[in-house]
Amino acid sequence: MIPRVIAIDGPAAAGKGTLARRLAATLGLPYLDTGLLYRAVGRRVLDRGLDPANPVTAEHEARALKPTDLVRTDLRGPVADAAAGQVAAVPGVRAALLDFQRNFASQGGAVLDGRDIGTVIFPEAPVKLFVTASLDARAHRRWLELQNRGDAVPLDDVTRDMANRDAQDAARAAAPLRPADDAILLDTTNMDADAAFTTALAIARDRLAAAQ
Ligand code: CDP
Repeated sequence: MIPRVIAIDGPAAAGKGTLARRLAATLGLPYLDTGLLYRAVGRRVLDRGLDPANPVTAEHEARALKPTDLVRTDLRGPVADAAAGQVAAVPGVRAALLDFQRNFASQGGAVLDGRDIGTVIFPEAPVKLFVTASLDARAHRRWLELQNRGDAVPLDDVTRDMANRDAQDAARAAAPLRPADDAILLDTTNMDADAAFTTALAIARDRLAAAQ
């Protein structure tokens, strides 16, 4: 059994990041937002003026990824979202990012959020949460995030892009978005961030204790 790995998966803007960060801080574990890896690969492809859906280019950029790519300030927003979704469907990209994610948790565990943490990266994780919310609730949260950053994108566009990316994430052959069989579902449609955190922390403590 891999010690103290908390896998948090789910569709876009379900509240995974906020939840994962708080769980990590409370439990004293490092946190990895794995979406950043795919976002950074997508950006590297765009920098070269190439197509993020091209498997050869996307894998090449995934293998060339550097730590500084993950702290770029242009990894969010509609263009970065779309490029991340495209490179994430390339099996060679996923293979290139696998070891980094596994190594991240190798020193005493970690909290990781993404799409395939509980199904592919850490199928043995003692704690697996699948965090969801209705499309409208998620689109509204993302729209607010964009507003707060000064990006005035119409809510309808956010909803449409999010529905497309979720459908693409769920339909792809390589590590599709789906709950692991032993994941606990957490629907945050009617929960604020505090309620989601309290529920998730209780589940995580329970599962970690059971895995000891
Ligand atoms: O923040 P948001 O939920 O919109 O997305 P993200 O978690 O940053 O992930 C961006 C994209 O990367 C997703 O739409 C997926 O296509 C891809 N991704 C993935 O395939 N596997 C992961 N473990 C994390 C992200």
